[in-house]
Amino acid sequence: MLFDNHGRQLNYLRLAVTDRCNLRCFYCMPEEGLNFNKKSQILTYEEMERLIHILADLGISKIRITGGEPFVRKGLIPFMEKVSGIEKIDRLSITTNGTGPLDKIKNLKAMGIHSVNLSLDCLDKARFHKITRRDEYDQVMTYYRALLDAGINTKINAVVMQEHNLEDILPMCNLTHTDHVSVRFIEEMPFNGGSKGYKPIEWNHNKILAHIQSAYPDLEKLTDETNSTSLNYKIPSAQGSIGIIPAYTRTICGSCDRIRLTPKGELKTCLYQNGGFSFRDFMRNGATDKEVEQQFKKLFAQRAKDGFEAEKQKSSAANSFESMATIGG
Ligand code: GTP
Ligand code: 5AD
Ligand code: SF4
Repeated sequence: MLFDNHGRQLNYLRLAVTDRCNLRCFYCMPEEGLNFNKKSQILTYEEMERLIHILADLGISKIRITGGEPFVRKGLIPFMEKVSGIEKIDRLSITTNGTGPLDKIKNLKAMGIHSVNLSLDCLDKARFHKITRRDEYDQVMTYYRALLDAGINTKINAVVMQEHNLEDILPMCNLTHTDHVSVRFIEEMPFNGGSKGYKPIEWNHNKILAHIQSAYPDLEKLTDETNSTSLNYKIPSAQGSIGIIPAYTRTICGSCDRIRLTPKGELKTCLYQNGGFSFRDFMRNGATDKEVEQQFKKLFAQRAKDGFEAEKQKSSAANSFESMATIGG
């Protein structure tokens, strides 16, 4: 078991396999996209596998594949199949925008995927287009239905945005009446790749909760899984649940169990950290497995206590130009 310098056990790796994406959600990146990495700049699948084996020996047992949009990278399914076969990895999950090929859902099911988190911010075609600058709403809804039909544990991630989707909050909660889904509302964070100015959010956890409670005064609080990113609730008699992720107000840092590897192979021990140690360069310069392991241990022993401390270590300019797609969400 592996603990950081604040006594938090680390067991969860978020692995971003690409920074590229076929959508252009404005809270993530500008219309023109980002200065995307070239293929030679991102980790190869072999390099990722090597790092996973070392981290699994250190105590990482949960992996979430993120991006960018993971399915834009070729060869993803065979890679995930390999990872799912690593004995010490007992939970493999993915976060996707749901525009990928429907026929891969059966592969996800067959490899025993633990959960698919689907980024979907509204239930309206026109608003979807305004948010993502692309016309894929119908496809994403089809993907959503196919996930449920396949019996895959599915969560919807909806970023709450003052000017874009407040009218969707209650309809999205209503999905849980009939669907076995966890609908999770996320506080908007500043990682928009320079897409627009970021104003500190008004729609924080408390405000989102109060809004839901105004329609559902008898909303029940559920017991959250240890290290859950969301605080979870349920409409009595509903099939699914509702979660709120305090991603910006950061009240969950005390139980943070995760580390991130960016597409370029930088380790971020906090989402709000600037930059990160390059395991890509370290490996490409000939580091042995033992040296890689020692380096991980060293960095785990220097983690910021929370997202506020991590943020203090970087300039506000750096903050607003990073994108969730280059960090890995
Ligand atoms: P589960 O394992 O299903 O709970 O997934 P998850 O919530 O860890 O991952 P997901 O990719 O669905 O992320 C949902 C939102 O939570 C995204 O906006 C993430 O950036 C945010 N999030 C995940 N981990 C952290 C974290 O350590 N700190 C903060 N502030 N936000 C996080
Ligand atoms: N703030 C909050 N969440 C974001 N995501 C992407 N950008 C932001 C942001 N600026 C979400 C996506 C995806 C998850 C990994 O992160 O919607 O579901
Ligand atoms: Fe793509 Fe996800 Fe960023 Fe939207 S949030 S542009 S779906 S990487």
